[in-house]
Amino acid sequence: MCGIVGYTGSNPALIVLLEGLERLEYRGYDSAGVALIENGKLHVDKKVGKIRELVKSLWGKDLKATAGIGHTRWATHGEVCELNAHPHTDGEGNFAVVHNGIIENYRELREELERTGIDYRSKTDTEAIVHLIALNYRGDLLEAVINTLKRLRGAYAFAVITTKEPNRIIAVRYGSPLVVGIGKGENFLASDIPALLPFTRDVIPLKDGEVVDLRPDGVFIYDFGGNMLTKEVMHVPWDIISAEKGGFKHFMLKEIFEQPRTLGDTIRGYISRDLNLPFSLKDFRRILIVACGTSYHAGLLGKYWIEKYVRAPVEVAYASEVRYSDMPVGEGDLVLAISQSGETADTRFSSLALKEKGATLLSVVNVMGSALDRESDYTLYTHAGPEIGVAATKTFTAQLAVLYALAVSEAEEKYARMEELLKVPHLVEEVLSRSEVMRGIALRHANNRDFLYLGRYLSYPVALEGALKLKEISYIHAEGYPAGEMKHGPIALIDEKMPTVAIVPKDRVYEKMLSNIEEVLARRGKVIGVGFEGDENLKGLCGDFIGVPEVEEDLTPFLTIIPLQLFAYYIADYLGLDVDQPRNLAKTVTVE
Ligand code: M6R
Repeated sequence: MCGIVGYTGSNPALIVLLEGLERLEYRGYDSAGVALIENGKLHVDKKVGKIRELVKSLWGKDLKATAGIGHTRWATHGEVCELNAHPHTDGEGNFAVVHNGIIENYRELREELERTGIDYRSKTDTEAIVHLIALNYRGDLLEAVINTLKRLRGAYAFAVITTKEPNRIIAVRYGSPLVVGIGKGENFLASDIPALLPFTRDVIPLKDGEVVDLRPDGVFIYDFGGNMLTKEVMHVPWDIISAEKGGFKHFMLKEIFEQPRTLGDTIRGYISRDLNLPFSLKDFRRILIVACGTSYHAGLLGKYWIEKYVRAPVEVAYASEVRYSDMPVGEGDLVLAISQSGETADTRFSSLALKEKGATLLSVVNVMGSALDRESDYTLYTHAGPEIGVAATKTFTAQLAVLYALAVSEAEEKYARMEELLKVPHLVEEVLSRSEVMRGIALRHANNRDFLYLGRYLSYPVALEGALKLKEISYIHAEGYPAGEMKHGPIALIDEKMPTVAIVPKDRVYEKMLSNIEEVLARRGKVIGVGFEGDENLKGLCGDFIGVPEVEEDLTPFLTIIPLQLFAYYIADYLGLDVDQPRNLAKTVTVE
């Protein structure tokens, strides 16, 4: 959903901006640009395409500016072209703005600005911001920004520089993420923490409604009324190594292979520290899980475990749907929000709306200091480290670990359950050691255009997640379905051209799944089976089969999802697609 960077100090700003933008490219990669104050004048470069196109266009230009801002775009308003790429400038070329999010009243502002004779160049909502700041400027950039904020509606983050105050950057957070990085004689700005890690590990994540005045020798933070705030600097424990590819071809593959470690870190975190929640899940009338995408699939699994061990009613809702529903929620309800980034607009805003109605808000997030983390009454962290691949993998299994630990935390057999969970990282490692088998299966099916993923009970959310992975990175149509529902419609789709991926561990629905596979075979469908190693029955039915170590029913999703992540990865890689930055997607979706 667009990435923003900023630098002011004594070193060449361009180097910092480009490095930061490369790390933010997962947030959007339609076009990219930078604005620098070079010899008192604004120098703007922008290019359609990825950051490398921008780098090529800057090649050989000896830019010495020590302050600037940069942007990588995921288009919302206006097609992908150089005119709509950021930074946007005012008519005189004195101000430049980069922006993430949406200005909802941009039409009204545009009409008003054009009536005053301002010549609009782009089709973006962003351009209004820069013209308003230029109009409001009376010698103090901070004051001009604060006055401009009164006119903006929507959810956004933006940063502005001006030739009139060359070493100063003013930036605002209101609904889209923004983090300040603290250096010595230099300061930084970025949409997320990993983009700052090459330069500093001392950060201040801004809250909604905050404005930062960034100068080489200081950082000053204000509220929208212009009152100065005192903020604490947070030291980030992640290091730069964990945000690098580490010899893997793609971040996604590295992140898939990191799962034994990330799961171990997450599980051990909860064994050593407990959950530390000052309430019992049983105290609540109802538990409502809200999330999007992969996090929603984790929530579906959390529902099964919480219902089993807590015996409390649980509902799982898409965050984007629940926000505008009339669902009766209030005091006595627990909202459990799940989000890797902690910045997903749908998840944040729906959770906040439910909190306002009186519900308690507990969240599961990966990014410490993210908006959802701060806005929640309580937070449980996944200790998966930065996830760069747009397709979520290691954070999904880490979410499962937290949800399982939460579900069993009040069960009598809690310690026995957690001991079983502790075996999972090693079992995941065993599954990963068979990645070549999965690669072979993936290559045999890489030219199919449609897939059906079937599972029942705990394997149903796994089917949904497996299908989502394939869709996201290979652009192949894949439908996840509860296997028992297949006969009520999707069975009509089955023929020899539509393979079925069946997730069939030996659990309470095993026999039923075998019958569903027979139904597929009877219609000349091909079956790729994921089940327990040594299950000759299942293997005999499936054209292709991959085994995972036998594990108790509850824990099967941790293992069966791994071959499906690999399957999607190997197909996308075989097709030569951009695995880490699939088309049309962004890692963090900060628009509704
Ligand atoms: O950061 P979040 O967990 O809130 O993100 C939610 C979804 O946008 C995310 O899971 C998305 O579906 C991923 N691309 C899945 O791989």
